Amino acid sequence: MVPTKIKLLFALHILLCASVTRALSVNTLSANQTIKHGDTIVSPKETFELGFFSTRNSTNYYVGIWYKKISNRTKTVVWVANRNTPLTNNFSKLTLTIHGVLVIRDGMNDKQVWSSSNSSTRSVRNPLGQLLDTGNFIICEEADAKQENPIWQSFDYMTDTLLPGMKHGWNLVTGFQSHFTSWKSSDDPAAGEFSCWLDKKGFPQTIVTNGEELVTFRAGPWNGLRFSGIQVMKLPNRLIRYDFVLNKKEIYYQYNLISDSVYTRVVLQPSGILERLLWIDSTQEWDIYIQLEKDHCDHYNVCGPFASCDINNIPVCDCLKGFEPTSPEQWRVDDWSQGCRLTTPLNCGPKEGFKKYSNLKLPDTQWSWYNHSMTTKECERMCKSNCSCTAYTNSNISGTESGCLLWFGDLIDIRKFDENGDSLFIRLPPSELESSSAGRRVRVIVPIASVALVLLVTLYLLYRSKRNKQKQEGTDGNKSGNDREYDKGDKDLELPLFGLPTLIKATNNFSITNKLGEGGFGPVYKGVLEDGQEIAVKRLAKTSNQGLPEFKNEVMLISKLQHRNLVKLLGCCIKGSEKMLMYEYMPNKGLDTFIFDQTRSKLLDWSARYRIINGIARGLLYLHQDSRLRIIHRDLKVSNILLDSDMNPKISDFGMARSFGGNQIEENTTRVVGTYGYMSPEYALKGIFSIKSDVYSFGVLMLELVCGEKNRGFVHKEHSNSLIGHAWVLHKEGRSHELVAKCLSESINASQVLRSIHVGLLCVQCRPEDRPAMTSVILMLGSENPLPSPQKPGFFIEIVTGDTSHSSSSYGNSSNNELSITVLNGR
Ligand SMILES: *[C@@H]1O[C@H](CO)[C@@H](O)[C@H](O)[C@H]1NC(C)=O
Ligand SMILES: *[C@@H]1O[C@H](CO)[C@@H](O)[C@H](O)[C@H]1NC(C)=O
Repeated sequence: MVPTKIKLLFALHILLCASVTRALSVNTLSANQTIKHGDTIVSPKETFELGFFSTRNSTNYYVGIWYKKISNRTKTVVWVANRNTPLTNNFSKLTLTIHGVLVIRDGMNDKQVWSSSNSSTRSVRNPLGQLLDTGNFIICEEADAKQENPIWQSFDYMTDTLLPGMKHGWNLVTGFQSHFTSWKSSDDPAAGEFSCWLDKKGFPQTIVTNGEELVTFRAGPWNGLRFSGIQVMKLPNRLIRYDFVLNKKEIYYQYNLISDSVYTRVVLQPSGILERLLWIDSTQEWDIYIQLEKDHCDHYNVCGPFASCDINNIPVCDCLKGFEPTSPEQWRVDDWSQGCRLTTPLNCGPKEGFKKYSNLKLPDTQWSWYNHSMTTKECERMCKSNCSCTAYTNSNISGTESGCLLWFGDLIDIRKFDENGDSLFIRLPPSELESSSAGRRVRVIVPIASVALVLLVTLYLLYRSKRNKQKQEGTDGNKSGNDREYDKGDKDLELPLFGLPTLIKATNNFSITNKLGEGGFGPVYKGVLEDGQEIAVKRLAKTSNQGLPEFKNEVMLISKLQHRNLVKLLGCCIKGSEKMLMYEYMPNKGLDTFIFDQTRSKLLDWSARYRIINGIARGLLYLHQDSRLRIIHRDLKVSNILLDSDMNPKISDFGMARSFGGNQIEENTTRVVGTYGYMSPEYALKGIFSIKSDVYSFGVLMLELVCGEKNRGFVHKEHSNSLIGHAWVLHKEGRSHELVAKCLSESINASQVLRSIHVGLLCVQCRPEDRPAMTSVILMLGSENPLPSPQKPGFFIEIVTGDTSHSSSSYGNSSNNELSITVLNGR
């Protein structure tokens, strides 16, 4: 009895398996033919495949097209048929009807859940569906072997991906518009918030909108060579040819591969960011080749009308020359929504003219008009003759500049580039046009001006000598006084000056018992002023070769920085060769005294750490971008993060950071300042520092905070990687959770922890340009959006010359063994 039963079961098993694995793989779909789950349609060269799929963590099923040869982790789906009507069982079917319509039916109730729309009313006789190697699924008459007259094609109904050869734009004959819409999330292909369109109002331009209306990004008008706002398109490339077609029948953008040995696609990510991705075979990953919205200035209309956004400036917005803020009060607090206006309004008088503004992203062309056959002169005349025309430029700058593009009304969403931007001629009143007639007047003005100048200089000198006298009286008073003195006379230095005696008294004559620690530039002491206020005094090493003017400069700089996540500078003291800085006192000391200490680390649970991470990120963003002075910290590390009584993090020691001017984002230095373990490779090795080297240090810091281990000196029993290397290995293997400090195990929020590690790894990527800016870091930490995959981290391999026996067991709470290196020849 028993053996028969087993046999029977066995037979049944074989039967079941057979029915599951007998998948069909075809090249074409003819009328009335059906494919089921597991079946696929494959393109002739097996580039693409069409079939049923489901996403990670989901039991919803979809019909889609994906790259056949790419199958790491999940399929790379480029098109989804029923994105908004998922199937919930795997008995469903896809059929091509005799009328040439593709239909998906639910296998349980035989209900139709999706069909390819058939707008054409032509009668179909013998339809055939084919998947082409371009990724296009096309339904044609079988007789139409060249596929010249498709009944329907998937390329017209894009999902979130623009593949080579797709036409993004308008068929003006039928009025059909193609556009693509982001997925809801990386696991849900349903239509998300963002869509990419070709807007044909005025001069055509590519835009991304949130919902139907709200524009978030504009690539700018096509100027014959590239989209005006996409600078990278001007770079020579051997992969892609960009085309923009504008005629009576069609307006569309398209790109084609020069060599079809690569896979590249444009994707509108669920976050609303347009990216061009490139498949890298060696790493088996999609690499971000171009990110179209790469910084704050790419966001739509940051600065309001008649203003331009320059990412190298602080603040980023500035009125165009000749224009002034519409609301100076709002402008002052960085509310740029009202933009700028002309100092002298236009009245359409005959003397009005145009001035050339160069290197711009052309303004929004929604309210524009164009004619490709007009000359520049005709264009200028046309703009001048229409009082509502505010600007003009050539509509085509490929080859000889030609064509005419006119703007009416406000000019918005202008961005300033360093070079190779477009030119724009803006209408200005006569007073703003330095015409040739101004030349004659100059000679008359000169004598008057020089007289005025002499007078002014005399007055100023008189004023100076008087003030100096006052100042001397002030310093004399200092000798006896032991209170805080405010140098009210010196308007340049709006910072309290402390007398040396005050500080000697406050710190118990810099007693060793008052010493809080040793920073990169000298010891720090605790002090108590007579009124009971606690302060921290940083006594700068006398060997510091910084001169007095430099020092004053630095101090002024720091005193202007105010942010809740920065330690506040209270004052300074300069006496002979002594230079000191007074800061607010932080009772909880440095973050290092918590996270690297076995008992104290328990005091910081995950939510506290997460708050600290976010606080540091905001402080750093302020230094990098939001403060009027751009500051690179250059020595960001755990021991430079102090905690106030509520455990709020405050970045300290940014005083020594070098300020840098408006357009210097990167600087090369011969003096490397920083701490091993936190230094980015390009800084440690070549002395190149930028805000991205701070981002690197931030990434290290974040990983240390999650793991409770120091990057420097981290030793793992299985391999010789640093903490970063270890984190990278675990991340690649999907085991990031193993990194988390043991003391945190009870308090963690798994998704926050994994996100922090992921963002940390993005920050320590080898190439500075791959690392996110702090704005993105904050966005990434605060959202649930999918994150890009990190590239391999950059390490600085330290060559230890002396004692090499430092190991993880020597982690004390002394910060002495990680003294900042202040002088080191970087080049
Ligand atoms: C464009 O400009 C050309 C040359 O000035 C003119 O002949 C043509 O009529 C214009 N087209 C339109 C639509 O205005
Ligand atoms: C100026 O141009 C606008 C937009 O094309 C048009 O509506 C208006 O009629 C023109 N005005 C004159 C006076 O030509």
